[in-house]
Amino acid sequence: MGEKKRILSGMQPTGRLHLGNYAGALANWIKLQDEYESYHCVVDWHSLTITYNETERIAQDTIDMVTDWLAAGLDPAKATIFVQSLVREHAELHLLLSMLISLGRLERNPAFKERVKDLNLRGEVSYGHLGYPVLQAADILIYRAHAVPVGEDQVPHIELTRELARKFNSTYGETFPEPETLLTPYARVPGPDGKKMSKSLGNHILMSDPPERVEEIVMKAITDPEKIYKGDPGRPEICNVYAWHYTFNSDQEQLIADECRQGSRGCVVCKKEAAGAISEYFAGFRKERSRLESDRGYVLKVISEGTERAGGVAGATMERVRKAMRLFSLEE
Ligand code: TRP
Repeated sequence: MGEKKRILSGMQPTGRLHLGNYAGALANWIKLQDEYESYHCVVDWHSLTITYNETERIAQDTIDMVTDWLAAGLDPAKATIFVQSLVREHAELHLLLSMLISLGRLERNPAFKERVKDLNLRGEVSYGHLGYPVLQAADILIYRAHAVPVGEDQVPHIELTRELARKFNSTYGETFPEPETLLTPYARVPGPDGKKMSKSLGNHILMSDPPERVEEIVMKAITDPEKIYKGDPGRPEICNVYAWHYTFNSDQEQLIADECRQGSRGCVVCKKEAAGAISEYFAGFRKERSRLESDRGYVLKVISEGTERAGGVAGATMERVRKAMRLFSLEE
């Protein structure tokens, strides 16, 4: 492990994951765990930036999500899996980093602006929410991570993290590596309505959904609106069902696209096949997940061991940080 570069990434505790979460993050984490020393964090404090008054589900959502991580193949022997709020040092570093950045810089952060717009927040932005990327920077820097595997939408946050690392280093001495963005290969995973799959829109298919449920959702999907009869040629590039074939039925997708363009493939059959392919893709996952569901103790043990390992690294970094900043120490 010693020679490998270190990565860190986080996910808010949203409970059971959907196909977009899988293709947009988790699948990549699983791929990277052999190549990198991996840290993966349930960022429950980040979820409070919006839902501070709805905390009753955080704990169960955390377990459900970590169970999905494990069932999908994130391996605790390779990756350190932990919960942000159990490693209190993240909050300490967040406080210190918050001195090194201006309010204006945070307000100009495009990811922040977009979130305020999407969620219709306007004047309702809390102090904690404005500091969202500072907390994210603390998550990353406290492990002195070399790289952060994230999607395109997170690039502004990583840029801000790099700025904070530079600012800290130039003010107090070289302490943090400047982390690189390790961009997740883009996968278009729409819901049946064509919008980006998300739980808040209710257009999601869970990784753990049983085949009947997958089929029910897939059969409702919007395809090419100009393909009315079975024999009409279609345009896979604008079809939601084709997008699923592309990601979860990659052996067949080329043939499917050709048949669709030629008009020799009807949407009903195509949907049935997509539903079948998705269910097949996650068959092993579902089996492993139901095994883990009956072993909550194991999932808790993984989190507990991961948190301990993460806490060791975070604690050591904070000692360095306090020393670099010449904060008071009782020693020597
Ligand atoms: N902001 C990230 C997201 O919304 C979650 C996150 C928090 C994160 N801390 C992180 C991602 C550290 C990568 C590294 O997806």
